[in-house]
Amino acid sequence: MDINDTWIWLCKSRDLLERGAAIAFDVAYAGRWMRAFAIRFEGQACAYLNECTHVPMEMDWQPNQFWDHQKRWLLCATHGAAYQPNTGQCVMGPCKRGLKKIDLKDDGENVFWRTQYNLNPAEF
Ligand code: FES
Repeated sequence: MDINDTWIWLCKSRDLLERGAAIAFDVAYAGRWMRAFAIRFEGQACAYLNECTHVPMEMDWQPNQFWDHQKRWLLCATHGAAYQPNTGQCVMGPCKRGLKKIDLKDDGENVFWRTQYNLNPAEF
């Protein structure tokens, strides 16, 4: 088995609430450990590296809180960049491109994330 293609349990599906608090986890990326987060938007479980594309900083304004007041966009607390929740694409503010997406699998009972064969900085 390829270690880079392993699904790892993250949480119960019911614990990833629609537009609720994110669930944080750690991923190995570019030779270092980084924080990542999973959210649910319009029923879809999504996960991203917790690193803004404006300045490489973690984005949550409180631990595991990324939503704007209307719970429409994912926000960076530092300068207000806004990202599309289901794609991670920058929609407004000083962000330069999309968040780095992490593969998730939600079978209705459990959510898993996949170690990233594609977590390669050359993709940016
Ligand atoms: S660091 Fe995120 S908007 Fe500036």
